[in-house]
Parts: sequence; structure tokens; C-alpha cells
Amino acid sequence: MIVAVCSLSGAPGVSTLAAALTACWPAAPLTVPVLVEADASGGDFAVWHNTRAERGLLSLAAASRRTAADADGGDNPLLRHAVEVSGGLHVITAPSAPHAVTGAVRLLAERRGCLARGPLTVVDVGRVLPGSAGARLLMQADAVVVVLCGDDVAQVKRVVECAAVFTALEQRGCSVGLAVRGRRFSDDEFAEATAPPIWARIPDDPGGAAVIRGEEARWASWWGRAGAWLRYRRDPETIGGHPLMRAARALAEHLDDMAPSAVSHPASAAVPSRTHGPDALGAVA
Ligand SMILES: Nc1ncnc2c1ncn2[C@@H]1O[C@H](COP(=O)(O)OP(=O)(O)O)[C@@H](O)[C@H]1O
Ligand SMILES: [Mg+2]
Repeated sequence: MIVAVCSLSGAPGVSTLAAALTACWPAAPLTVPVLVEADASGGDFAVWHNTRAERGLLSLAAASRRTAADADGGDNPLLRHAVEVSGGLHVITAPSAPHAVTGAVRLLAERRGCLARGPLTVVDVGRVLPGSAGARLLMQADAVVVVLCGDDVAQVKRVVECAAVFTALEQRGCSVGLAVRGRRFSDDEFAEATAPPIWARIPDDPGGAAVIRGEEARWASWWGRAGAWLRYRRDPETIGGHPLMRAARALAEHLDDMAPSAVSHPASAAVPSRTHGPDALGAVA
């Protein structure tokens, strides 16, 4: 299953939620969810967690050029390009400079199937612009989570006005839902405005966000860090019961429940129609 996490504007917490979602995924013991940083404006994780691995988005993109037999192997070939950061999270990191990332994101958008090689791939697409490679990546996803600051009326209006784009994605078999930070507008108000359904309310949680940035682990001893890692993998809620992780866990469970139907949606599946036609996809890619 591929879950894409994106925003339409601002910095509402896409990378943070994508990471929390991956960390909290209710996976079977041998299923390792992988987070892929595919935000064309650059990655954050290598800096947040001070990793210096050779592998990452660029090696994944290079491997995607080769034949499937060449690039494949193992249960989850994506793991070859991932690093494990604190919390036991496997991340395919991207360089932080946009010019170093754009080509790789474009390549992944062209090579359909590359991201689908793992059992669960969460893709941080970042801020999506019409016609961008990131927008084309959304079309590979089984589910798209659009993150927005619900207190920012401009962001809310932008999401509402993109209803045609979301409908077009749904018509290709991709489920679309919102993850909203801030409570200025109720679920009913979003529904009345024909926005996609709200899948999660994301709390403001500086402590939880710091864990994702690797800051909580930085001062810990090696043993403390290992213990935290184990506790985190067994039960993400134990990392202080961070509200952000609880919200991410609930969202992950919701998406996991949706997985069979989302995956089995044929591209041409009939979708309950909203008011907009498929031509709107032209506005995405
Ligand atoms: N739920 C949250 N509560 C508190 N701070 C958050 C939350 N989500 C993100 N942040 C912080 O906001 C900043 C931007 O988040 P980030 O995930 O990088 O946004 P984006 O990927 O949308 O640009 C980061 O410093 C991050 O730690
Ligand atoms: Mg980001």
C-alpha cells in the first residue's frame, strides 16, 4: 500500500505527520513500513537525525532506472535505500537542497511501481503544485492524506476549491482525506463545503514533533536510546503518550482498515460522484 502525505500550501506538518504515521503503523512483526522523502523542496530527516548514509532517495531513483530484476531482491527492496533512525523508523532520506532532489522525484513519478515494492510505503510529497512530479506521485498512491492548518482560512479555502482535483484522484482509485491541525472549523463545516472527509485532527504537540525531529533522543545515552527504541516499536504510545502519536496511530489504523478496498480499486472504478469531472486531473499533472 502506498500512502502519500502532502499539503497544498504552507508548512502544516506534512513531514512530521508522515513520519509519525510510519512509526505508528500497526504492522505485523515482519512488515517494515518505510517513509520516503519525496518532497521536491528537499528532505529534512538526514539533518534532523544527523545521518550521513550514501543510500537514500538518489540511490532509490538510480535503482528504479534498472530492470526490476536488477533493482529487486529481498522481501522489501525499498529497505536497501533506507536508514534506520531513532524510534526504529526506516526512512529513505532526501538531500536537503531542492536542486539535488527534483530529478529523483521526477524519476520516481515516471517509474510507476517502484514505490509499491514494499508492503507499506508512506511518501512525504510535501507541498504539491499543479503539473509537478509530486502531483504525479499522488496518482500512484492508494490513499492521499492532505495536511492543512485548519486555523488558516486561506489554506481551508484552497483545499475546498481543489475538490475537483481530489475527485479526479478518487476516480483513479485513490482515497483522499484530510488531516487538520487547528479547530477553527468543525467537521460539519468542512462537510458542508464538500471538502474531502476529515480522517484526523492533528493536535499541536511540540513534544511529539521534537521526537520526530530526533531531538528527544539526542541527549539520551546509548542504552536509554535503545530502550526508547524498543518501547517505541512495541507501543508507540509509550513515548510519553504524545498526543501527536496517538492521532497518528488512529489515522494509521483507519488507513490500514481501508487498505484492501483501496488497493483493489480498479483505476476505472465507479466513485460516488461529487460535482466535478475527471478533467480536473489535468490540474494535478
Ligand atoms: N503537530 C505538531 N505540533 C507541534 N509542532 C509541529 C507539529 N507538526 C509539525 N510541527 C513542527 O512544525 C515545523 C514544520 O513541520 P514539518 O513537518 O516540517 O512541516 P512541512 O513538512 O509541512 O513543511 C517543524 O518544526 C515541526 O517540528
Ligand atoms: Mg516537509
